[in-house]
Amino acid sequence: LGSKLWGGRFVGDTDPIMEKFNASIAYDKRMWDADIRGSKAYAKALEKAKLVTAEEKDNILHGMDQIHDEWAKGVFEVKPGDEDIHTANERRLKELIGEPAGKLHTGRSRNDQVVTDMRLWLRDAISILKGNSLQLITTMVERAAVEIDVLFPGYTHMQRAQPIRWSHWILSHAVALSRDVEQLQEINRRVNVLPLGSGAIAGTPFNIDREMLRQELAFDDISINSMDATGQRDFIAEFLFWASLCLTHLSKMAEDLMLYSTKEFSFLTLSDAYSTGSSLMPQKKNADSLELIRSKAGRVFGRCAGFLMTLKGLPSTYNKDLQEDKEAMFDCFDTVHAVLQVTTGVVSTLKINPSVMEAALSPDMLATDLAYYLVRKGVPFRDAHGISGKAVFLAESKSIPLNQLTVEDLRTASPLFSSDVSAVWDYSSSVEQYSAPGGTAKSSVAAQVEYMRTWLKKQ
Ligand code: ARG
Repeated sequence: LGSKLWGGRFVGDTDPIMEKFNASIAYDKRMWDADIRGSKAYAKALEKAKLVTAEEKDNILHGMDQIHDEWAKGVFEVKPGDEDIHTANERRLKELIGEPAGKLHTGRSRNDQVVTDMRLWLRDAISILKGNSLQLITTMVERAAVEIDVLFPGYTHMQRAQPIRWSHWILSHAVALSRDVEQLQEINRRVNVLPLGSGAIAGTPFNIDREMLRQELAFDDISINSMDATGQRDFIAEFLFWASLCLTHLSKMAEDLMLYSTKEFSFLTLSDAYSTGSSLMPQKKNADSLELIRSKAGRVFGRCAGFLMTLKGLPSTYNKDLQEDKEAMFDCFDTVHAVLQVTTGVVSTLKINPSVMEAALSPDMLATDLAYYLVRKGVPFRDAHGISGKAVFLAESKSIPLNQLTVEDLRTASPLFSSDVSAVWDYSSSVEQYSAPGGTAKSSVAAQVEYMRTWLKKQ
């Protein structure tokens, strides 16, 4: 116990099972670089506060650089007593430079250290995820631009609703992802705040220049309350929620694509690169990529819910429960990181079958247009809806498609129908009516593409 950071007041050994239970090094070693960056900045603040000499500071910095090299080369040796990344790096520093290592933790606690490390780590992770998201959105927007002329059925309640552009569907998902990017940036504002200099709970009694630490570590702000800084993990909860919502968006898109890729739909074919086969049925080509994208939403949602449960009812400031934040954060990062890349691959390589998509359109999907035809002749929409519904019923009872009803048939529903009704039965002109912003007309979808391109340039 003598070798433990906190061993002074203890006499007996830690139970080996407890030792393992307590340790976080197995996963928090991922923050080795952030931990070293934080310690180097802190050594400089200690020198400024005259708590270490310039020489001691230099020794600490050199020692930390060497530790950095060891981690980077994969040769850093984690030893049995290394409880967490903070303990491991400090233990190694002592081995390398001797006594000045013992001064590094002056006024610092692992409570402000760990949350500094996490904020540094998450800040980098967020920038990676933002890049992955933008790549996916770019892929989708450019695909929408190229395939803007393809029409296919739009569904509500999974029932045929109205003809839409395929690009309109693509952009509907791209727009949702753009909100994810904006939310990620919002979250980053709250992540990018320096907690170092908060100590364990009460703050620092030394002349630690927190503004200097902020600049050294490139944080936007410094935390305003040491208890809040060391005891809050709301920024982690926000990130976990972000991951949940982002993957909820992607699971919706994956579900659509999976359906469209079935033989029954045959709207599109997934690339072999993102499909797998069956060990038994030779003909099978399964959309495992899409199924896994869909499933990962459940995984990150579980991480989010689980960590919120951990936070619920905790008393103020640091409690060891908070150590649970890291696996949730790492797992959500890894999962979303992979999902975004795989989704980009799936979307950029799938092949659509435009003729099948257009052949899937059916005249009943123009029943709304039939009502609009009457609206344009002055019929209140509610009545027009009823009349068009009667026409649908008539066609169904005659077992013919809606557009095969004669003008005489239609006139049994309303005398306002005349031969110009034939213009209704055209999918392209149907789609072209929706030219208001946000609609599925070519001009409107092209405007959405332009809007998204401009948005992407601003990111
Ligand atoms: N490994 C710990 C964690 O991840 C570091 C902070 C420990 N602080 C303490 N007072 N025990 O939360």
